[in-house]
Amino acid sequence: MDSTRDQVVRIQADACWEKIMIITIDGPAGAGKSSVARGLADRLGFHFLDTGAMYRAVACAGIERNIDFQDSGALEQLARSLDIRWIEGRLLLDGRDVTDAIRSLEITGMTRHVADHPGVRAHLVQLQRATAVGRNVVTEGRDQGTVVFPDAQCKFYLTASPEERARRRQRDLEAQGDTRSFEEILAAQEERDTRDRTRSIAPLRQAADAIEVNTDGMSQDEVVDRLAEIVLELSRRYRP
Ligand code: C5P
Repeated sequence: MDSTRDQVVRIQADACWEKIMIITIDGPAGAGKSSVARGLADRLGFHFLDTGAMYRAVACAGIERNIDFQDSGALEQLARSLDIRWIEGRLLLDGRDVTDAIRSLEITGMTRHVADHPGVRAHLVQLQRATAVGRNVVTEGRDQGTVVFPDAQCKFYLTASPEERARRRQRDLEAQGDTRSFEEILAAQEERDTRDRTRSIAPLRQAADAIEVNTDGMSQDEVVDRLAEIVLELSRRYRP
């Protein structure tokens, strides 16, 4: 059931959207993009797109089919053969719900091979754009505001200090029974950040027209509130 606040935002939002609106949320691992993007999409009545999950889905299929991740041709062929789609906030891989399974450490580790592959990226970017056609969308990832939707009306860059991001990750892992140390999580996160930022194709960076929001010390609801306020303000400005 929507809270009164959600209903008010929705009514205001309905009055504002006169044409399709794309909202992008990029940022480093652990900045809270996924839950915030989902919350914002719910709040506004928009479609939600988690693009990291699509890279993870390809890694998941590669592991299951035992493919050689160093074999560039095989990886691209695999990615192009898969049916990856978002239905009601769940990610379906060839019709199977893999939304939770793709969060495993093994899949997180192998996803970098998928994310570094230019052919796979080109294919997934095409799928992401196709998913957004004719819809109001909140999409999150690393390259949404810079590469995939450079003309998006509203772009956010979500950050938090490395320590805060690692603490959040540790809480999530503990909830799954994983007791890895804070130092280990921080080191793995730094490695992932460096890789995302230095990749030759579609590296993680803030789009020139993105609004930076530092989420240190903020709850997920507070971040969604802040973003929803900015979106409504911007959409009023765009109204004819
Ligand atoms: O956001 P998430 O952790 O699920 O992303 C998994 C991996 O996919 C990231 O480490 C990143 O390297 C990659 N990714 C990407 N481009 C995106 C989204 C994710 O390269 N748009």
